[in-house]
Amino acid sequence: MNKMNAVVLITGCSSGFGFATALHLAERGCRVIATMRNLKKKGNLEATAADKNLEITILPLDVTVVETIMAVKDYITQQKLQLDVLINNAGYGIGGFFEDLTDREFRDQMETNFFGVLNATRIFLPLLRQKKGGMIINISSVAGLTATPSLIAYNTSKWAIEGFSEALRLELKLMGVKVFLIEPGPYPTKVLTDNVRFAEGSDHEESPYYPYSRRILMIFEEQNRNIQSDVSDISRKIESIIRGKTKNFRNILGGFARLRYLLRKYFPYRLYEFLVFKVMFSKRGMGKVDKGV
Ligand SMILES: NC(=O)c1ccc[n+]([C@@H]2O[C@H](COP(=O)([O-])OP(=O)(O)OC[C@H]3O[C@@H](n4cnc5c(N)ncnc54)[C@H](OP(=O)(O)O)[C@@H]3O)[C@@H](O)[C@H]2O)c1
Repeated sequence: MNKMNAVVLITGCSSGFGFATALHLAERGCRVIATMRNLKKKGNLEATAADKNLEITILPLDVTVVETIMAVKDYITQQKLQLDVLINNAGYGIGGFFEDLTDREFRDQMETNFFGVLNATRIFLPLLRQKKGGMIINISSVAGLTATPSLIAYNTSKWAIEGFSEALRLELKLMGVKVFLIEPGPYPTKVLTDNVRFAEGSDHEESPYYPYSRRILMIFEEQNRNIQSDVSDISRKIESIIRGKTKNFRNILGGFARLRYLLRKYFPYRLYEFLVFKVMFSKRGMGKVDKGV
């Protein structure tokens, strides 16, 4: 395997894709700057890197706090490193129907998943532009290409990333910086468990959406029990992009995501919508909510 020597900065490395990708790329020779908003969570990455005899620089960075991003930029400049790749990975998902979400909950989702990406991109772009061949890899989601009732805030944030990335890719062609999207379906990380949030209003029995929220929670829990996908798909795809082997702008990962996207793209929209509704809110499905199964 050819050794990689890119300098790579990743946001959101305390768990999941960021954690796995930091190790994966460091194992292949990259100089990895793994960032996380809470350094109290660095123990696992530090210990795993030490076990594998890998050097990974772990720095604090909260994508919603510009000063923390600036501090990482200063570190890179002081170390005289040439930043080659920025991986905008940090994010979370909030579940809840639009009317059950508070304005704050919706805006917080956008602050992290969308404006967080803008913050990091704005600050690191001047470094990426210094040498031709710089890359930005944005971790979007199949939720940025499709929509699901009760994932409206998450969908909006990821659709925004899709539009931003597509326009940015065109702009940065002029500067020799390449932009890529990774669009995974469900993968077994904390985004679906410990880190998932729910709209405060979704738990209120008086909400007209309450039975539908419960139905979706049921589907969600069942889906989580049956996830077969392997997180290393993401790290391997990112490696392939950095090595220049994958040239596609959009990279949909996972069987479920590909199927969902193909249905959305090629089925007449009304039929697609009918299917989504059938799966989620058929009488049989809603009956399961009533019975609590
Ligand atoms: N796993 C999936 O099924 C899936 C599918 C499609 C897309 N994605 C996307 O993949 C990305 C990574 O998620 P994951 O699946 O690896 O889940 P994860 O294990 O929950 O990791 C998310 C990471 O983002 C960090 N984070 C959250 N808010 C942040 C902030 N304001 N500043 C900096 N870091 C922050 C978390 O840090 P803390 O530990 O401090 O919370 C954590 O390190 C996300 O953008 C997610 O939307 C995931």
